[in-house]
Amino acid sequence: SLARRTSNAGTSYLTRRGLASESAPDRKVAILGAAGGIGQPLSLLMKLNPLVSRLALYDIAGTPGVAADVSHINTRSEVLGFAGEEQLGKALEGADVVIIPAGVPRKPGMTRDDLFNINAGIVKSLCTAIAKYCPHALINMISNPVNSTVPIASEVFKKAGTYDEKRLFGVTTLDVVRAKTFYAGKAKVNVADVNVPVVGGHAGITILPLFSQATPSANLSGEEIEALTKRTQDGGTEVVEAKAGKGSATLSMAYAGAIFADACLKGLNGVPDVVECSFVQSTVTDLPFFASKVRLGKNGVEEVLGLGALSDYEKQGLEALKPELKSSIEKGIKFANAN
Ligand code: NAD
Ligand code: LMR
Repeated sequence: SLARRTSNAGTSYLTRRGLASESAPDRKVAILGAAGGIGQPLSLLMKLNPLVSRLALYDIAGTPGVAADVSHINTRSEVLGFAGEEQLGKALEGADVVIIPAGVPRKPGMTRDDLFNINAGIVKSLCTAIAKYCPHALINMISNPVNSTVPIASEVFKKAGTYDEKRLFGVTTLDVVRAKTFYAGKAKVNVADVNVPVVGGHAGITILPLFSQATPSANLSGEEIEALTKRTQDGGTEVVEAKAGKGSATLSMAYAGAIFADACLKGLNGVPDVVECSFVQSTVTDLPFFASKVRLGKNGVEEVLGLGALSDYEKQGLEALKPELKSSIEKGIKFANAN
């Protein structure tokens, strides 16, 4: 049986390789910014994913070392390192999923928008290359400010004539990961059973966790819900302050990024009912991009799911976040078209 073959220690390495490629189609994943704080642990986690057959690690520097290191792990994927812009095309060619954690992180006192001036240009140039070398890949945008970098990517792809709204995702999984952890702690339920949708965007009050829809349900007070909401919204800042100038979330982000990329791969492979929250092109509100639950399929977004019933507190939060999210989206669109 399959189970017996995988647990056979003597042949596990070869057998697992063989098994994985028999049961899952070939899939190439490229990570742009792979030598960074997120990039390195994310490269590790994607190397552990049996759905990946080729793992391309790209950065402006440092990737030969990361790739050599990760490549020794005895899992299915072949690992290739690419350093410097002249190798970007090779890193991207044939990619099914491109994960982008390239760019500078926050220091204490900064907002995510303070990263715009540097990261907008990085994202724009990477997306220009994606349009050329792997126009059909699913894009998992991690670089901040996500509320603006996703609209930048959409404009770059539109200009190149390759835009497909079903293939562009802002990664907001870390907000969901945090909401689940904080909720489980407060509600005293098993964290492994918890589900909490998080909608809106990925910065401050634009992050709107829907604790009224959290499962398993718990009888939390209004004050407790408010405290959980604020902690989720400020989760990134909590890490930035604790790291005291050494960057922002990297390990929890790598975990979240690996979960989201895995969901994309499962969707591509035709696994049914794969649903994750993500910041995508949307008609759920009057804003052109919005994070909500998304069903993933063979072409990327299969269905953008609605918000469901909101509490009065969540309705207020939704109205309050719209002006900031709208202006961050517009800032990205304007940048892409002006530069
Ligand atoms: P980091 O500085 O540790 O790593 C960034 C990497 O990007 C570096 O290795 C750098 O060389 C590389 N890079 C820079 N320009 C590049 C280019 N043109 N092409 C390829 N690579 C390039 O930063 P980090 O902690 O890994 O964070 C990366 C980004 O992710 C930041 O913008 C951060 O704000 C964001 N982030 C997003 C989330 C989220 O939830 N979406 C969570 C955490 C961090
Ligand atoms: C996070 O949510 O941890 C990231 O967006 C990084 C940050 O700057 O907070």
